[in-house]
Amino acid sequence: MTAATKICEYQPGLEGIPATKSSISYVDGTKGIIEYRGIPLEQLAKKSSFLETAYLLIWGQLPNETQLEEFATEVRFHRRIKYRIRDMMKCFPETGHPMDALQTSAAALGLFYSRRALDDPEYIRKAVVRLIAKIPTMVAAFHQMHLGHDPIQPHDSLDYAANFLYMLTEKRPHALEAKIFDVCLTLHAEHTINTSTFSAMVTASTLTDPYAVVASAVGTLAGPLHGGANEEVLSMLEEIGLIDNVLPYVEECIAHKKKIMGFGHRVYKVKDPRAKILQELAQQLLNEKGCDKYYDLALELEKVVEDKLGVKGIYPNVDFYSGLVYRKLGIPRKLFTPIFAIARVAGWLAHWKEQLAVNRIFRPTQVYTGEHNAPYIPMAER
Ligand code: SDX
Repeated sequence: MTAATKICEYQPGLEGIPATKSSISYVDGTKGIIEYRGIPLEQLAKKSSFLETAYLLIWGQLPNETQLEEFATEVRFHRRIKYRIRDMMKCFPETGHPMDALQTSAAALGLFYSRRALDDPEYIRKAVVRLIAKIPTMVAAFHQMHLGHDPIQPHDSLDYAANFLYMLTEKRPHALEAKIFDVCLTLHAEHTINTSTFSAMVTASTLTDPYAVVASAVGTLAGPLHGGANEEVLSMLEEIGLIDNVLPYVEECIAHKKKIMGFGHRVYKVKDPRAKILQELAQQLLNEKGCDKYYDLALELEKVVEDKLGVKGIYPNVDFYSGLVYRKLGIPRKLFTPIFAIARVAGWLAHWKEQLAVNRIFRPTQVYTGEHNAPYIPMAER
């Protein structure tokens, strides 16, 4: 037994075990605080943009005007994807989930940009730009293919958020819609050592390429206990259907130990501060575009869950209100989790860089519970 196994007790899900030292973000789950590089997320949501926030996360400080302009211009320049990637995506089954399409296409970037020069700052910078620029284009392209259409090319006159919405409809979005979508990206950009970020760090620790790092994180984000919950929230609200069904639905979930989607968090024992901002954004859109019965259902569900499970620290998490915002922006449900990935790529890349700077391969141990010296039973005797 090593020293580490002697002093550490096994914790299912590694709860409470530090996996790294990091200066990228900070979360206080009892006070409901999130900071990116020390700046409260509420400030960034109000005053920053997604690209500026991504720069802050990845390069460690807010860019000056020239740095931001250069970064935005370079990202704009790299938005297009190679024809061969588009052709490869055309071979995917249109009925497949966009997260699976994204994981495959993100990994495929490694085939086209295969030089692995992790000690070359220029290689790192280019990989960051390419991934931030191309992931939205790949998400939108697969969406168009799923509809049986050709992908819509990025629009050079539109900024990051507006361009993504444009690639879904070929219409320029309203300024308020683009702004709200940009804030959603900022809110999802980073969140300490969440599961997909941990997956990115583990993959990064082998010194593989950044496209493999992002692809592994996309696969991890897709699950319904993590980023996939935002889709499930809308399906759940549809299943509930009427305000009168909310209480029986929650009671049924509690009786059968079924998880209520969009609620609960490993770190937060209060309402996720991002859920508060997303709720305000949903309200802003409702004021602009008219009411939505699912929003009323969500409010009632939050009230009932708080009443029944608040003592356990079960409150809405980031995935609870995001789908309602995207729905009001006219975004199809299957894109909710890919949108989470578009934003979170900033956090994954920040942790990739941080991991490379102090790398030691992740290789935890285990508590073995199997047999020893077991006999090999011949086939005929089994
Ligand atoms: C994200 O980690 C991050 O930072 C993630 C994230 C990010 O930005 O990257 O914030 C994004 O992944 C948000 C989470 C999205 N997932 C969901 O909404 C799915 C529903 N929520 C859960 O399954 C759950 O709350 C987790 C997965 C989010 C957290 O799981 P834990 O920490 O392992 O907690 P647990 O499942 O062991 O539950 C602890 C207790 C249990 O009760 P007891 O058995 O102790 O009596 O809380 C209860 C659970 O039954 N519980 C819930 C519940 N979540 C926890 N009960 C009902 N509904 C829920 N949603």
